[in-house]
Amino acid sequence: MKAIIYRDNGGPDVLQLVDRDVPAPGPGEVRVRVAASGVNPTDWKTRSGATNPMSFPEVTPHLDGAGVIDDVGEGVDRSRVGQRVWLFMATAGRPTGTAAEFTVVPAGQAVPLPDEAGFDVGASLGVPALTAHRALTVAEDGPRRLRPGALDGKVVLAAGGAGAVGHAVIQLARWAGATVISTISSPEKARLATAAGAHHVVNYREGDPAAEIRKLAPDGVDIVAEVALGANLALDMAVLRTRGTISTYANDGGRPVELDVMQNMRLNTRFQFLVLYTVGPEALTSAAEDVAAAVRDGALPVGEEHGLPLVRFPLDRTADAHLAVENGAVGKVLVDVTP
Ligand SMILES: NC(=O)c1ccc[n+]([C@@H]2O[C@H](COP(=O)([O-])OP(=O)(O)OC[C@H]3O[C@@H](n4cnc5c(N)ncnc54)[C@H](OP(=O)(O)O)[C@@H]3O)[C@@H](O)[C@H]2O)c1
Repeated sequence: MKAIIYRDNGGPDVLQLVDRDVPAPGPGEVRVRVAASGVNPTDWKTRSGATNPMSFPEVTPHLDGAGVIDDVGEGVDRSRVGQRVWLFMATAGRPTGTAAEFTVVPAGQAVPLPDEAGFDVGASLGVPALTAHRALTVAEDGPRRLRPGALDGKVVLAAGGAGAVGHAVIQLARWAGATVISTISSPEKARLATAAGAHHVVNYREGDPAAEIRKLAPDGVDIVAEVALGANLALDMAVLRTRGTISTYANDGGRPVELDVMQNMRLNTRFQFLVLYTVGPEALTSAAEDVAAAVRDGALPVGEEHGLPLVRFPLDRTADAHLAVENGAVGKVLVDVTP
């Protein structure tokens, strides 16, 4: 089979297209013929060595993907062969991700994908949707799970709603019944966040975004899903309601964070920091179940008309796909693996 590998950390040029044996699924595992592989910022950060040194002598990158199960290991129901699935956390603790014609994952990390949902949708779910789920389920007064109605009466602020995670935050929050406000930085991104389902968009680079958000949500925001805590802390604090939650999944821009302890005490602020690698199996499983339900409801579409343009590359241009993500491509970067 064709596979992308790297043997050393470095720039995109460490990625090579090679031939490898088709892997056999072990006990409790499924083998998937990968149709599309989703690229996330963590994939290039891991490849570059910025986050961790190499954990294996050779790595096939990419956590997310979608395809069809073509074999199962011992203990897995054989009726799953032929099932369309989306994959999550494929490279967590193992060296073989989805940038290959076949990959092997624990059966629970291959989630059935309904016929109505394309492989584009499936390969876009993993990291963004599971992150968004976590961000929306850590408030003091719940909910812990998402379903229609779970966020009724709540106001969610999706920072940077034209980003891949921001897009998933908007879609999941909207599906669960929240009023959704998204910050954006341009009219084009306003259009995307609105297409994703945001009720309101506010340009965070112009005017007085805090006053605008306060006008939209006079009682304050219940949950902020934050991509740039250092840059946005003052804004978040200005719009958060008492006992509100700031769920932080990134600090893009790298600005340092300085907390005003008294202000946070007065608000009873809850900060939840999150990274999928250590969120634990229970949270991942719950998130995958709820995301699967949202997919069945048709609530997580992708594509320009749904606020997430698709930027596609063939497998032999995976290096360009990494560069696109690193350079901040707007939308979802996908690698087409097999037809
Ligand atoms: N903790 C986790 O488990 C986890 C999971 C997924 C992703 N992440 C991290 O989250 C970040 C985003 O990932 P992604 O896949 O969504 O990337 P993406 O598609 O490139 O989106 C990033 C978004 O952040 C927005 N942004 C940047 N600075 C902002 C600011 N000051 N205020 C508001 N929005 C801002 C950008 O919009 P503008 O350019 O318009 O500002 C852009 O829409 C990356 O650093 C990634 O590594 C972490």
